Amino acid sequence: MKVIVLEDAAAIGRAVGDIVCNFIAQKPDAVLGLATGSSPVPAYQRMIARRRAGEASFRDVTTFNLDEYCDLPAEHKNSYRTFMREELFSQIDIPLGNTNFLDGNCADEAAESARFSRAIEAAGGIDLQILGIGRNGHIGFNEPGEAFTGDAYKVALTPSTIAANSPYFVDRPMPRYAMTMGVGQILQARKIILVATGAAKAEAVRAMLEGEVTPLCPASALQGHPDVTVYLDPAAAGLLGKNPPAPS
Ligand code: F6R
Repeated sequence: MKVIVLEDAAAIGRAVGDIVCNFIAQKPDAVLGLATGSSPVPAYQRMIARRRAGEASFRDVTTFNLDEYCDLPAEHKNSYRTFMREELFSQIDIPLGNTNFLDGNCADEAAESARFSRAIEAAGGIDLQILGIGRNGHIGFNEPGEAFTGDAYKVALTPSTIAANSPYFVDRPMPRYAMTMGVGQILQARKIILVATGAAKAEAVRAMLEGEVTPLCPASALQGHPDVTVYLDPAAAGLLGKNPPAPS
């Protein structure tokens, strides 16, 4: 995996936003895999700025989002569908019909997973996947577990993820389940860019890049992908090249 350390989240946002815009300039009907959370927002802001400057068009782009909460109305302000609309889609020229989400309120999770896989396949596969990483090493909502996952499925969120995301939920408790693309599905993207900033991510980043490949750190599976670039700020890179912490 290629690792690039830039001075701060804003610089990473500019770099990653430019990569996306340059990518779609080469391939206007590109298929993008997108993440929510704070990590990709500066890149989304760069994409919006370049759209406003007339330097990029998303008219023919298709997107697939990694994950969505269960038991939360799609129109709720904390749904990932709402997040993407507010942080990106409403501010660029992508038709909303080109944007794809897992349905966290589906009655049949296996059927929903199969629908999502078929849609990705019909679009020609994901060209460029943007990822963040959880403090526990999750990608998408693939939490540490006993085995790497494949296609999309319903996951019980861990206490670490609930603690990290609960502050965003002010009017109701955070959902305990989500639908997420599986690790195997994420690895099928042709190119992957992962963004991590802040000291709280440093141990997960170290485990992803320097630890063994294990489902206990789902992001470590990225070591087996041929085209991954990891963008870090100095704090997130702070434990790289050091011995792993002693077990406690
Ligand atoms: C969200 C997602 C998650 C986040 C991760 C980091 O769609 O895929 O894996 O990327 O939880 O979240 P932030 O960026 O908020 O620290």
